[in-house]
Amino acid sequence: MARYASLPRLVVCFLWLCAAAAVCRARDLQPVREAQEPLTVKSYGYASFDRNVDAATLGVLKEASINGGALQLTPDTRNDVAYLQHKSGSVLLKQPFTLWRKLPADKIAANATAAGRVRVASFNTTFSMNVVYDGAVPGEGLAFVIAPSLDGPPPGSDGGFLGLTNATLQAAGAGPAANRFVAVEFDTFNQSYDPSANHVGLDIGSVESNVTANLADFNIAIANTFANAVNYTVWIEYAGVGRNITVYMGAQGKPRPATPVLAAPLDLSEHVPDNAYIGFSGSTGATYELNCILDWTLWIETFPEEEEKRWWIALVAVVVSVGVLAAAIAAFFLARMSRARRAVEQRQARLGHTLSHLPGMPREFTYESLRKATNSFHEQLGEGSYGVVYKGTLPAEADDGRAEAMQVAVKKFMRDDARCVEDFVKEVDIINRLRHKNIVPLIGWCYKKGQLLLVYEYMPNGSLDQHLFPRSLAGQLASPLTWASRYAIAKDVASGLHYVHYEYGPMVLHRDIKASNVLLDASFSARVGDFGLARVVDSDRTSYMDAGVAGTHGYIAPEYSMGHRASRQTDVFAFGALVLELVTGRRALLRDASCPLLVDFVWRMHGRGALLGAVDQGLGTAEFDADEATRLLLLGLACSSPNPGDRPTMPEVLQILSKSAPPPEVPPVKPTFIWPPEGGARFSISDIEMMTSGGGSYAGTGDGSSMRATQDTSSYDSFRPPTAPNNSQEYFPALSSGR
Ligand SMILES: *[C@@H]1O[C@H](CO)[C@@H](O)[C@H](O)[C@H]1NC(C)=O
Ligand SMILES: *[C@@H]1O[C@H](CO)[C@@H](O)[C@H](O)[C@H]1NC(C)=O
Ligand SMILES: *[C@@H]1O[C@H](CO)[C@@H](O)[C@H](O)[C@H]1NC(C)=O
Ligand SMILES: *[C@@H]1O[C@H](CO)[C@@H](O)[C@H](O)[C@H]1NC(C)=O
Ligand SMILES: *[C@@H]1O[C@H](CO)[C@@H](O)[C@H](O)[C@H]1NC(C)=O
Ligand SMILES: *[C@@H]1O[C@H](CO)[C@@H](O)[C@H](O)[C@H]1NC(C)=O
Ligand SMILES: *[C@@H]1O[C@H](CO)[C@@H](O)[C@H](O)[C@H]1NC(C)=O
Repeated sequence: MARYASLPRLVVCFLWLCAAAAVCRARDLQPVREAQEPLTVKSYGYASFDRNVDAATLGVLKEASINGGALQLTPDTRNDVAYLQHKSGSVLLKQPFTLWRKLPADKIAANATAAGRVRVASFNTTFSMNVVYDGAVPGEGLAFVIAPSLDGPPPGSDGGFLGLTNATLQAAGAGPAANRFVAVEFDTFNQSYDPSANHVGLDIGSVESNVTANLADFNIAIANTFANAVNYTVWIEYAGVGRNITVYMGAQGKPRPATPVLAAPLDLSEHVPDNAYIGFSGSTGATYELNCILDWTLWIETFPEEEEKRWWIALVAVVVSVGVLAAAIAAFFLARMSRARRAVEQRQARLGHTLSHLPGMPREFTYESLRKATNSFHEQLGEGSYGVVYKGTLPAEADDGRAEAMQVAVKKFMRDDARCVEDFVKEVDIINRLRHKNIVPLIGWCYKKGQLLLVYEYMPNGSLDQHLFPRSLAGQLASPLTWASRYAIAKDVASGLHYVHYEYGPMVLHRDIKASNVLLDASFSARVGDFGLARVVDSDRTSYMDAGVAGTHGYIAPEYSMGHRASRQTDVFAFGALVLELVTGRRALLRDASCPLLVDFVWRMHGRGALLGAVDQGLGTAEFDADEATRLLLLGLACSSPNPGDRPTMPEVLQILSKSAPPPEVPPVKPTFIWPPEGGARFSISDIEMMTSGGGSYAGTGDGSSMRATQDTSSYDSFRPPTAPNNSQEYFPALSSGR
C-alpha cells in the first residue's frame, strides 16, 4: 500500500483546487451589472405555422388553432356563423421571457429614480396578419400581447376584450395578477371608448387603450372582405433603455414605412411580471372575422443567469467533482486487473445508457433486426463519403405501438473505430434533439462492435435533385416540379436552417446543404437531411477529411475554401446555390467551360436585365409566378455574394420568402471576393465544442427590413487539407458525393 500513501494528500489538494476554481468561475460570471451592458439577442422565427410541429413551442389556447399554415386566433370556418361569434383565443410562445431585472444595490446611485433601479430587456418583432370578414361589418380584432401566464384568455374575454381581459379583471385594474398584461391591439370594431372601427392602440391592463391611432390616416384597413383580402406586416420595436415602444405597419412585401403608426413611452417593468409570455390574442363578438397571423419573428435580449444560481452550479460542480474522484479511485482499484478491457466495456455501456436516456428516446435496434428490415442491406438509396443509405421496412410490432409496417432509411457508417464512441453519442444526441417539420426525423440507432447505424424516417419522394434534374437520367422525363412546390421547398429549407442556426440550443451548422441532401416527404414538404454528420466524421481521422466531407463544389463559399471555417454564412451561401438550382433547374456546377458556375450565369442575366430568362425552361411561361421567381433569383444571388457580410441572415431570408420584406437589392455585377473577409469568420473553436445560438447583436439600417447580425463570431475550425490550397479546385473535384 506504500504506493498509495500520498493519496489522501492528493485528494485534499484536488478538492482545494476544485473549490478555488469554482469560486473563480462564480466571480467571472457576474450577472447584469450595468444598465447599458449589452445583452445577448435571441431570435425565434416562423415563416409559416404547422399544427403538428409548432405545438411543441407554441401554447395554442382557448378557441385558437393552427390551421392552413397560419395561427387562427379565433375559429376559421366560413360556414357556421354561430361557431364564429363570441369567441376568444390566444397563441403564446411556451417559454417565458425575463423582461426586466433589478440592478444590484451597489450599482444604483443614491439619487436614482425608480426606473434607474431596473434593467429592462429590448425586443423587436415583425409579423404578418390577415383579417377577413363575411358579414356586414367585421369584429372585434387581434393583439400582440405580453401576458403574465400561459392560462390563455379568461372567461368572458370575447367581444371588445380581444381575449386579453374581462369586465371583472379590467375593473380591478393592476390588482389581479391575471390582468398584468401589455398589448398592441389592432381593433376592427368601434366601442364607445374607441376612436374608430379601424385603429391601433397600446393597452395596459385594459382594452380602453392608453394611446390610439386611427389607421385610416395611414391608408390601412385592418379588416377586408374575402374578395379584397390584404396581408399587412407589423414591426414593433421596444427599447428597454429608452422605455418606449414604436409600431410600424404596412402592406406585406413592402419595406417598413418611415413613419410609425404609434409611438409611446412604456416601462414594461411597471406593468408586467418579470417573467412573462409573448404572443397574440384575438376575439369576435356578435360581429366576426378571421384573425390570422401568417408569419412571425422575434428578436429579444436575454439576461444572463442569476448569480445565486451560478453559486449553486459551482457548489454542485464541487460535489460532483468529489463524487467523480471517489468513483475514479474506486474504479481504479476495482478495475486495475483488466483496465483496458473494462474501459472499452464501460464506454460501450455508457453509449447504450446515454442513447437510451436521450430525450424523445430514439429506439435501439439490434443489428439483426436492421439486417432483416433492409433485406441484408439490399436496396441502396444513396451513398455519401461517410456511408451508405439503404431502404428498409420495419415490421408491425404491437409492443412498440406500431400497428403497421413502417418504411425507413438506414444509414450505415463506414467507421469502425471504438475510440470514437463519445463522438457518436454527441452526434446522435444532436440529431435526435433536432425536431422540426423540415428536418428528417431520427427513429433509432444501432451500435455494434464499432459499427454505427442510424434509422431515419423514409422519405417517399426521394431527394430534391432527383426531381429537379430528371433530364439527366437519360430518357426518364419525369414531370418537372411545379412552381408552387419549388417556392414551398425554398421556404421549407429556410425554416429548417433557421431552426438549427438560431432556434436550437447549441447552434448547429449543416455544412453540406445541397439538392441531394434535401428530401421530400409524402406531401412534397422538404426536409433537410444529414445534419451535423459531417462534423462527426470531421473530428475523426484525416483520411475522412480527404474524402471531402466539407461540402460539395458549387456550394462552397469562397471564404470557406480559403479559410476552412464553416459559419452561418457558409450555410447561407450553399442555400443560395440551392435556391438558384430550384429556379433554373440547372446544377450549381454547369458543364460549360466559359461559365462553370450557375451563379455567374444568373448574375450575367441579371446584369443584362434579363433575370427571368434564367427560369427553368421546363416550366412554361404560364406556369410560374414572375414576381416570386424574381424574388427567389435575387435572394439566391444575394446569398451567393462572395463576401459573407453581404449575404442575408436566415431571419432575413425567412422574411423575404414570406414576402414580409422586399427582395434584396443585388448589384448588376458580382462583387469581387475580398480576402480576408472583414468581420467574417475569424475566431475558431474546437470542432466538437458548439456555439450557443443567437450571439449576434442586431443593428437596424433604418428601414427595419434589413436587420443584420453585426457580431457573428459563430464559426469553428473545420476540414483542413494537408497543405494550403493555392487552387481550391484541386481539392474539390472528387467531393460531389454520389450523384
Ligand atoms: C445623481 O447624482 C449625480 C452626482 O452625484 C449626478 O451626476 C446625476 O445627474 C444625479 N442623477 C439624478 C437622476 O438626479
Ligand atoms: C431593434 O431594432 C433596432 C433598430 O431598428 C436596433 O437598434 C435594436 O438593437 C434592435 N433590438 C433588438 C433586441 O434586436
Ligand atoms: C373574469 O375572469 C376571472 C378569472 O380569470 C373570473 O373569475 C371572472 O368570473 C371572469 N369574469 C367574467 C365577467 O366572466
Ligand atoms: C365611434 O364610436 C363613438 C362612440 O360610440 C363615436 O363617438 C365615434 O364617432 C365613432 N367613430 C367612428 C369613426 O364611427
Ligand atoms: C394608461 O396607463 C396607466 C398605467 O400607466 C393606467 O393607470 C391608466 O388607467 C391607463 N389608461 C388610460 C386611458 O390612460
Ligand atoms: C396573404 O398571405 C397568404 C399566406 O402567405 C397567401 O397565401 C395569400 O395569397 C396572401 N394574400 C394576399 C392578398 O397577398
Ligand atoms: C426610444 O428610446 C431610444 C433609446 O433606447 C431612443 O433612441 C429613441 O429615440 C426613443 N424613441 C422615442 C420614440 O422616443
